Amino acid sequence: MASPIIAPSILAADFSKLGEEVRAVANADWIHVDIMDGHFVPNLSFGPDITRTVDKITDQHLDVHLMIENPERWVDHYVDAGADCVIFHVEATEDHVALAQHLRAKGVKAGFSLKPGTPIEPYLADLPHFDLVLVMSVEPGFGGQSFMPDQLEKVRALREAIDAAQLDTLIEIDGGISEKTIRAAAEAGCDAFVAGSAVYGKEDPAAAVDNLRQLATI
Ligand code: DX5
Ligand code: ZN
Repeated sequence: MASPIIAPSILAADFSKLGEEVRAVANADWIHVDIMDGHFVPNLSFGPDITRTVDKITDQHLDVHLMIENPERWVDHYVDAGADCVIFHVEATEDHVALAQHLRAKGVKAGFSLKPGTPIEPYLADLPHFDLVLVMSVEPGFGGQSFMPDQLEKVRALREAIDAAQLDTLIEIDGGISEKTIRAAAEAGCDAFVAGSAVYGKEDPAAAVDNLRQLATI
C-alpha cells in the first residue's frame, strides 16, 4: 500500500502565527483547509483569502474542505485561491457529479464529503467522477471532537467499491483522528487522514505528523 497521507487541519493552528504553524508541518503530505459558512455548519471559519495566504506560504497540496451551502457558487474562488483538491458536501448540492466535472475541467481534483448520518450507497456509482471521498467521523463544524467508530463501516463499503471497480479514488477521513484512532481507520481502508488537535495540540507538530504516519502504515 502507498504511504499514508497525513493532512493537518489549520483550523487547529494558532492564527496569530499562521505562517509559522504551516511551516511547522512541512513534513506533512497535504494541508487541510476547513471552510465553514455559519449555515451548513453552526460555525464560521475563514474563506478564500486565508486559503490564498496558505497557498503563498507553502507548496504543499491544499485540501480544501467546503462546509458551506451552495458550493457551486463559491468553488471557483477556492480554485483561484490555490486549492489542489476541492471537497464539497453532497448534502449541500443538487448535482454533485456536475460540480465534480466543473472542478476537474478547471484542473483541480474533486472530492465529496458526507456527514455521519448520510449513507454512502447512493453515491457509489458516481465514484469514477471523483478523485477523493472525505468520510466525516464527527459532525462537521468543530475541531477536537471524539471519533465515531461506526463511520468505519462507510470506509469499508467504499474500499470494497473502489477496489472492485479498480478506481484510484482516495478515501480520506476527518474528525477525531489521533494516535488512538488512526490505525483502525487505516485498517478499514483509508488513504488520507485529517488531524487537527492531534497535530497542533502537540508540543512538536512535525513529530506528531511522523508518528501518525507511522501508526497508519500497515
Ligand atoms: C471538522 C473539520 C475537521 C477538524 C478536525 O468540522 O472538518 O477538519 O478540523 O479536527 P480534529 O482532528 O481536532 O477532530
Ligand atoms: Zn475538514
